[in-house]
Amino acid sequence: MKFEKIINLKSVAAAAVLVLSSCSNAPNSPGYEFMPDMYRSPSLEYYSTHTLNGDTLLTAKKPVAGTIARGHMPGIPAGMDYEKSGLYLKNPIALSDAVMKDAEHLYTNFCVHCHGKDGKGDGAVGQKLPGAPPAYDGTLKSLSEGKIFYSITHGKGMMGAHDGQLNVEERWKLVHYVQKLQGPKAVADSAAAKATGPVDELKKEEKNK
Ligand code: HEC
Repeated sequence: MKFEKIINLKSVAAAAVLVLSSCSNAPNSPGYEFMPDMYRSPSLEYYSTHTLNGDTLLTAKKPVAGTIARGHMPGIPAGMDYEKSGLYLKNPIALSDAVMKDAEHLYTNFCVHCHGKDGKGDGAVGQKLPGAPPAYDGTLKSLSEGKIFYSITHGKGMMGAHDGQLNVEERWKLVHYVQKLQGPKAVADSAAAKATGPVDELKKEEKNK
Protein backbone atom coordinates (compact mmCIF):
# COMPACT_ATOMS: atom_id res chain seq x y z
CA MET A 1 0.00 0.00 0.00
CA LYS A 2 2.80 2.39 1.01
CA PHE A 3 4.81 1.37 -2.04
CA GLU A 4 1.93 2.18 -4.39
CA LYS A 5 1.58 5.57 -2.76
CA ILE A 6 5.24 6.37 -3.47
CA ILE A 7 4.82 5.42 -7.15
CA ASN A 8 1.79 7.62 -7.41
CA LEU A 9 3.56 10.54 -5.85
CA LYS A 10 6.46 10.08 -8.22
CA SER A 11 4.30 10.02 -11.34
CA VAL A 12 2.35 13.03 -10.12
CA ALA A 13 5.62 14.92 -9.66
CA ALA A 14 6.83 13.85 -13.13
CA ALA A 15 3.58 15.03 -14.71
CA ALA A 16 3.87 18.35 -12.88
CA VAL A 17 7.44 18.82 -14.15
CA LEU A 18 6.28 18.07 -17.70
CA VAL A 19 3.35 20.45 -17.49
CA LEU A 20 5.39 23.23 -15.91
CA SER A 21 8.30 22.85 -18.30
CA SER A 22 5.97 23.26 -21.26
CA CYS A 23 4.86 26.63 -19.98
CA SER A 24 6.72 29.85 -20.50
CA ASN A 25 6.31 33.41 -19.36
CA ALA A 26 6.65 34.84 -22.85
CA PRO A 27 3.07 35.20 -24.20
CA ASN A 28 4.08 34.53 -27.80
CA SER A 29 6.29 31.54 -27.08
CA PRO A 30 4.78 28.18 -28.00
CA GLY A 31 6.58 26.71 -24.99
CA TYR A 32 8.46 23.45 -25.06
CA GLU A 33 7.88 21.45 -28.23
CA PHE A 34 7.68 17.72 -27.64
CA MET A 35 7.45 16.79 -31.31
CA PRO A 36 8.90 19.74 -33.22
CA ASP A 37 8.41 18.00 -36.61
CA MET A 38 4.69 18.29 -36.18
CA TYR A 39 4.93 22.04 -35.63
CA ARG A 40 7.57 22.87 -38.14
CA SER A 41 6.89 21.19 -41.45
CA PRO A 42 9.74 21.41 -43.93
CA SER A 43 7.51 23.18 -46.46
CA LEU A 44 9.07 25.96 -48.54
CA GLU A 45 7.61 29.26 -49.61
CA TYR A 46 6.94 29.35 -53.32
CA TYR A 47 9.35 31.32 -55.46
CA SER A 48 11.87 31.38 -52.61
CA THR A 49 15.33 29.91 -52.93
CA HIS A 50 16.72 27.06 -50.89
CA THR A 51 19.89 25.07 -50.92
CA LEU A 52 19.86 21.36 -51.58
CA ASN A 53 23.08 19.37 -51.80
CA GLY A 54 25.01 22.59 -52.34
CA ASP A 55 22.79 23.73 -55.22
CA THR A 56 20.71 26.85 -54.79
CA LEU A 57 17.29 26.15 -56.25
CA LEU A 58 14.03 27.93 -56.72
CA THR A 59 11.21 26.12 -54.96
CA ALA A 60 8.97 26.61 -57.99
CA LYS A 61 10.06 27.23 -61.51
CA LYS A 62 9.02 30.52 -62.99
CA PRO A 63 7.25 30.20 -66.34
CA VAL A 64 9.59 30.34 -69.32
CA ALA A 65 9.81 33.94 -70.53
CA GLY A 66 7.32 34.70 -73.27
CA THR A 67 5.03 31.73 -72.57
CA ILE A 68 1.33 32.04 -71.77
CA ALA A 69 -0.51 29.85 -69.28
CA ARG A 70 -3.22 27.69 -70.78
CA GLY A 71 -6.57 29.47 -70.69
CA HIS A 72 -4.99 32.78 -69.69
CA MET A 73 -5.60 35.74 -71.93
CA PRO A 74 -2.64 38.10 -71.77
CA GLY A 75 -3.05 41.84 -72.02
CA ILE A 76 -0.17 43.81 -73.45
CA PRO A 77 3.14 42.03 -72.88
CA ALA A 78 5.90 44.03 -71.18
CA GLY A 79 7.94 46.09 -73.59
CA MET A 80 5.15 46.45 -76.17
CA ASP A 81 4.70 50.08 -77.07
CA TYR A 82 1.95 51.60 -79.22
CA GLU A 83 3.68 50.91 -82.54
CA LYS A 84 4.65 47.33 -81.69
CA SER A 85 1.14 46.59 -80.41
CA GLY A 86 -0.15 47.75 -83.77
CA LEU A 87 2.09 45.24 -85.52
CA TYR A 88 1.89 42.18 -83.30
CA LEU A 89 -1.27 42.18 -81.19
CA LYS A 90 -4.15 40.23 -82.71
CA ASN A 91 -7.64 39.84 -81.35
CA PRO A 92 -7.89 36.45 -79.59
CA ILE A 93 -11.69 36.61 -79.53
CA ALA A 94 -13.55 35.31 -82.54
CA LEU A 95 -16.27 37.56 -83.83
CA SER A 96 -19.82 36.32 -83.21
CA ASP A 97 -23.26 37.77 -82.62
CA ALA A 98 -22.97 37.17 -78.88
CA VAL A 99 -19.60 38.94 -78.75
CA MET A 100 -21.02 41.88 -80.69
CA LYS A 101 -23.96 42.10 -78.31
CA ASP A 102 -21.63 42.20 -75.28
CA ALA A 103 -19.45 44.74 -77.04
CA GLU A 104 -22.39 47.01 -77.82
CA HIS A 105 -23.41 46.89 -74.17
CA LEU A 106 -19.87 47.80 -73.06
CA TYR A 107 -19.61 50.57 -75.64
CA THR A 108 -22.88 52.07 -74.41
CA ASN A 109 -21.65 52.06 -70.82
CA PHE A 110 -18.04 53.14 -71.26
CA CYS A 111 -17.50 54.93 -74.54
CA VAL A 112 -20.64 56.39 -76.05
CA HIS A 113 -20.68 59.60 -73.99
CA CYS A 114 -17.41 60.65 -75.61
CA HIS A 115 -17.32 58.87 -78.96
CA GLY A 116 -21.02 59.03 -79.81
CA LYS A 117 -23.37 56.24 -80.88
CA ASP A 118 -21.80 55.86 -84.32
CA GLY A 119 -18.27 56.68 -83.23
CA LYS A 120 -18.21 60.08 -84.92
CA GLY A 121 -16.74 61.74 -81.83
CA ASP A 122 -19.99 63.57 -81.13
CA GLY A 123 -20.86 62.21 -77.68
CA ALA A 124 -22.23 64.73 -75.16
CA VAL A 125 -19.00 64.65 -73.13
CA GLY A 126 -16.74 64.29 -76.16
CA GLN A 127 -17.97 67.56 -77.59
CA LYS A 128 -17.12 69.38 -74.36
CA LEU A 129 -13.50 68.19 -74.42
CA PRO A 130 -10.79 70.61 -75.61
CA GLY A 131 -10.35 68.25 -78.56
CA ALA A 132 -13.31 66.04 -79.55
CA PRO A 133 -12.47 62.37 -80.28
CA PRO A 134 -11.77 61.78 -83.97
CA ALA A 135 -14.33 59.75 -85.96
CA TYR A 136 -13.65 56.00 -86.20
CA ASP A 137 -14.66 56.01 -89.85
CA GLY A 138 -12.65 59.18 -90.53
CA THR A 139 -9.15 59.84 -89.18
CA LEU A 140 -9.17 56.51 -87.36
CA LYS A 141 -10.45 54.40 -90.26
CA SER A 142 -7.27 52.39 -90.77
CA LEU A 143 -6.21 52.22 -87.11
CA SER A 144 -5.09 48.61 -86.53
CA GLU A 145 -6.66 46.29 -83.96
CA GLY A 146 -3.47 46.25 -81.86
CA LYS A 147 -3.38 50.03 -81.64
CA ILE A 148 -7.10 50.18 -80.79
CA PHE A 149 -6.49 47.68 -77.99
CA TYR A 150 -3.44 49.60 -76.77
CA SER A 151 -5.33 52.92 -76.66
CA ILE A 152 -8.34 51.44 -74.85
CA THR A 153 -5.94 49.86 -72.34
CA HIS A 154 -3.61 52.78 -71.69
CA GLY A 155 -5.69 55.71 -72.91
CA LYS A 156 -4.59 58.41 -75.29
CA GLY A 157 -4.62 62.20 -74.99
CA MET A 158 -7.85 63.21 -73.25
CA MET A 159 -9.02 59.60 -73.08
CA GLY A 160 -8.20 57.84 -69.84
CA ALA A 161 -6.88 54.29 -69.47
CA HIS A 162 -9.57 51.61 -69.27
CA ASP A 163 -7.52 48.66 -67.99
CA GLY A 164 -8.83 49.29 -64.48
CA GLN A 165 -12.48 49.08 -65.52
CA LEU A 166 -12.49 46.55 -68.34
CA ASN A 167 -10.76 43.20 -68.34
CA VAL A 168 -8.70 41.94 -71.27
CA GLU A 169 -11.63 40.05 -72.78
CA GLU A 170 -13.94 43.04 -72.60
CA ARG A 171 -11.35 45.29 -74.20
CA TRP A 172 -10.87 42.91 -77.13
CA LYS A 173 -14.62 42.70 -77.57
CA LEU A 174 -14.68 46.48 -77.79
CA VAL A 175 -11.99 46.32 -80.47
CA HIS A 176 -14.50 44.36 -82.62
CA TYR A 177 -17.07 47.05 -81.98
CA VAL A 178 -14.73 49.91 -82.87
CA GLN A 179 -13.81 48.01 -86.06
CA LYS A 180 -17.49 47.73 -86.92
CA LEU A 181 -17.80 51.49 -86.54
CA GLN A 182 -14.68 52.00 -88.66
CA GLY A 183 -16.72 50.51 -91.49
CA PRO A 184 -15.44 48.19 -94.21
CA LYS A 185 -11.70 48.45 -94.80
CA ALA A 186 -10.53 49.80 -98.14
CA VAL A 187 -9.27 46.99 -100.41
CA ALA A 188 -5.93 48.75 -100.89
CA ASP A 189 -5.46 48.73 -97.10
CA SER A 190 -5.82 45.01 -96.69
CA ALA A 191 -3.61 44.32 -99.73
CA ALA A 192 -0.91 46.50 -98.17
CA ALA A 193 -1.37 44.75 -94.85
CA LYS A 194 -0.83 41.37 -96.54
CA ALA A 195 2.34 42.57 -98.28
CA THR A 196 3.98 43.54 -94.98
CA GLY A 197 2.35 41.34 -92.38
CA PRO A 198 3.62 41.29 -88.82
CA VAL A 199 5.89 38.33 -89.57
CA ASP A 200 7.73 40.23 -92.33
CA GLU A 201 8.07 43.20 -90.02
CA LEU A 202 9.45 40.95 -87.31
CA LYS A 203 12.03 39.51 -89.73
CA LYS A 204 13.02 43.04 -90.76
CA GLU A 205 13.49 43.97 -87.14
CA GLU A 206 15.59 40.88 -86.47
CA LYS A 207 17.84 41.75 -89.45
CA ASN A 208 18.30 45.31 -88.25
CA LYS A 209 19.57 44.12 -84.86
C1 HEC B 1 -13.47 61.01 -71.75
C2 HEC B 1 -13.91 60.75 -73.10
C3 HEC B 1 -13.56 59.40 -73.71
C4 HEC B 1 -13.98 58.16 -73.31
C5 HEC B 1 -14.84 57.80 -72.11
C6 HEC B 1 -13.45 57.23 -74.27
N1 HEC B 1 -12.70 57.88 -75.20
FE1 HEC B 1 -11.73 57.04 -76.75
N2 HEC B 1 -10.92 58.82 -77.22
C7 HEC B 1 -11.23 60.05 -76.64
C8 HEC B 1 -10.43 61.10 -77.23
C9 HEC B 1 -10.47 62.57 -76.88
C10 HEC B 1 -9.61 60.46 -78.21
C11 HEC B 1 -8.54 61.10 -79.08
C12 HEC B 1 -7.21 60.90 -78.40
C13 HEC B 1 -6.03 61.54 -79.11
O1 HEC B 1 -5.74 61.10 -80.23
O2 HEC B 1 -5.44 62.44 -78.53
C14 HEC B 1 -9.96 59.04 -78.17
C15 HEC B 1 -9.38 58.10 -78.98
C16 HEC B 1 -9.81 56.80 -79.09
C17 HEC B 1 -9.31 55.83 -80.04
C18 HEC B 1 -8.20 56.08 -81.05
C19 HEC B 1 -6.86 55.88 -80.35
C20 HEC B 1 -5.67 55.98 -81.27
O3 HEC B 1 -4.81 55.12 -81.13
O4 HEC B 1 -5.59 56.92 -82.05
C21 HEC B 1 -9.99 54.67 -79.84
C22 HEC B 1 -9.81 53.37 -80.59
C23 HEC B 1 -10.91 54.90 -78.74
N3 HEC B 1 -10.76 56.19 -78.30
C24 HEC B 1 -11.76 53.95 -78.24
C25 HEC B 1 -12.49 54.12 -77.07
C26 HEC B 1 -13.30 53.10 -76.49
C27 HEC B 1 -13.50 51.69 -77.05
C28 HEC B 1 -13.83 53.62 -75.36
C29 HEC B 1 -14.71 52.95 -74.35
C30 HEC B 1 -14.09 51.88 -73.60
C31 HEC B 1 -13.37 55.00 -75.25
N4 HEC B 1 -12.56 55.26 -76.31
C32 HEC B 1 -13.70 55.86 -74.23
C33 HEC B 1 -12.14 60.23 -75.60
C34 HEC B 1 -12.75 59.22 -74.90
